[in-house]
Amino acid sequence: MADEERRNDIDALLAEHRTFPPPDEFKRDALVADTDLYDEASSDDEGFWARQASELLDWTTEWTTILEWDLPNAKWFVGGELNVSANCLDRHVDAGLGDKIAIHWEGEPGDTRTITYAELHADVQRFANVLKGLGVAKGDRVNIYLPMIPEAAVAMLACARIGAPHSVVFGGFSSQSLADRIDDAQAKLLVTADGGYRRGDVFALKPAADEAVAKSSTIEHIVVVRRGENDVEMVEGRDHWYHELMAEADAECPPEPMDSEDLLFLLYTSGTTGKPKGIMHSTGGYLTHVTYTHKYVFDFHPDTDVFWCTADVGWVTGHSYIVYGPMANGATQVMYEGVPNHPGNDRFWDIVEKYKVTILYTAPTAIRTFMKWGPEEPAKHDLSSLRLLGTVGEPINPEAWMWYHTHIGGERCPIVDTWWQTETGGIMISPLPGATTTKPGSATFPVPGVSAEVIDDAGRTVERGGGYLTLTRPWPGMTRGIWGDPERFYDTYWSRFEGRYFAGDGARVDDDGYFWVLGRIDDVMNVSGHRISTSEVESALVSHPAVAEAAVVGANDPTSGQAIIAYVTTRGSATVGVEELRAHCADQIGAIAKPKTIYFTPDLPKTRSGKIMRRLLRDVAEGRNLGDTTTLADATVVDELQRRATETPPEE
Ligand code: PRX
Repeated sequence: MADEERRNDIDALLAEHRTFPPPDEFKRDALVADTDLYDEASSDDEGFWARQASELLDWTTEWTTILEWDLPNAKWFVGGELNVSANCLDRHVDAGLGDKIAIHWEGEPGDTRTITYAELHADVQRFANVLKGLGVAKGDRVNIYLPMIPEAAVAMLACARIGAPHSVVFGGFSSQSLADRIDDAQAKLLVTADGGYRRGDVFALKPAADEAVAKSSTIEHIVVVRRGENDVEMVEGRDHWYHELMAEADAECPPEPMDSEDLLFLLYTSGTTGKPKGIMHSTGGYLTHVTYTHKYVFDFHPDTDVFWCTADVGWVTGHSYIVYGPMANGATQVMYEGVPNHPGNDRFWDIVEKYKVTILYTAPTAIRTFMKWGPEEPAKHDLSSLRLLGTVGEPINPEAWMWYHTHIGGERCPIVDTWWQTETGGIMISPLPGATTTKPGSATFPVPGVSAEVIDDAGRTVERGGGYLTLTRPWPGMTRGIWGDPERFYDTYWSRFEGRYFAGDGARVDDDGYFWVLGRIDDVMNVSGHRISTSEVESALVSHPAVAEAAVVGANDPTSGQAIIAYVTTRGSATVGVEELRAHCADQIGAIAKPKTIYFTPDLPKTRSGKIMRRLLRDVAEGRNLGDTTTLADATVVDELQRRATETPPEE
């Protein structure tokens, strides 16, 4: 019933077709206030991207060919050479902007650091020399496992400077997840910290890093940043304090000229088959895409804007819109270490007021949390510096969009709802805020240079209505593949519809041609904007000695988008508590992977060939009537599950 009501709410808003044209005041100074960019890109997308690449970036060698496209392999700006860290730092310092603030960093306990471009430039060069001194050479992989501290950006840019691809692992992941990623990438060096601050306490990172290194086989050195001041063990010869190495390092390290197609980084994302995928991103194409989208989607004015993307650097949003895009554009940014409710529920708004943030980019899950805390929290602060808002990570429901518009944007700030993925590298579908009339809940249209289409099962274009969201032309920021697994790359993204990249999302096109992204059509869950594969959580559950089998589904959840619901069958007469299993998942994968609810069941619904029918489990979890059950091997299993779901209170 509650579901029905919610759906009607959304329908009612959609039926209203509420629209928000760019406010005149915003339009007056906007970089784009007409359709010229769209027109240029649609007549010649390759030429359009080439213009962006040469206008926005400094190349040390010009490219000879804009695009070589042999599906699924793209090469952009072939023959061109550049260095990403030189584009993010050196050229700003050379242009006299050394004293410009790059990062206003705010620690969770309230300590702050202000870092200029000149300081960041010097630190990146020092750390590049540290890496070289520890034997890291061009092409070697470096793992980064850090809290949200400026050293995360320093480490990433230092890797880019010497051409060592980085693989950042979110600090909330467990030692096992880190070990898997170290092994897959065969990383040589790990950068971590003693600990960081979260919810008022120090969480230790170094012990997890130690465990991961013990479980994996390729790490030769660990560099440890001091942040939490918690006690850690240092292994003689292997472990080194960041501040000690930096104090001795030379502040000059020339940038390595990199081929446009060289690997800039790997970023692991969950797949449907459990094993995480190392998504590969290139140098020239990626930087062009994120610099261009950061400039135009956020209508970025380098002299006056203060940009704040609230993502963690461990996710692609942090890579593309904290480090690479904004820094290539010489942005002044806010970087915040902690949670939004420490010490109070108004921490974000305190930060916006303190640093006079002009552009705020956050996730729908955060906005829904702010809604729960109430409009009185932002009302305690002066948010008049804000002029543009953005969202990313999952579909934003119209109520949340309206709340953001009213209580954060003061009804004057356009909202850019940006659809993209780890694999796309940068924003693909989004309004341009000075040009596009927005609708609450719609990401509107592909950005100039990007071609998207919704198609049906048979691959026919859907002009109006729902279907599969596909991309029809290569784009510079597109992933160059899955590390070590080209076949899986083709199979996962390019085999379903001929000639098209299939993003895995469903979408709807409305009467005005607007795109409404509906979320994943496969079994990957989106929990608070993080993609977690059902099978990884299942594997974690099954690794507990009392568990025989597990099925996991994502069920709609008003706060986190989807919540993890697990159905568990124990081994024989073995018993295990819900809390123990949840802790086990946290240990295996990370706290984000803890199931919200666990049901114990003697059996799971399966097809005759033995495949678990997650669709039915989702129906049960969301309290719906069951659809087609004819393919079930044993229909009594779901009856029993439904009985349990309605009779036993869920154990949370
Ligand atoms: O399902 C879509 C959802 O997040 C997925 C990509 O997740 P990830 O690779 O972790 O990257 C997140 C940050 C870019 C997409 O396939 N998604 C992302 N943005 C939106 C969205 N769904 C709807 N609207 C969005 N704006």
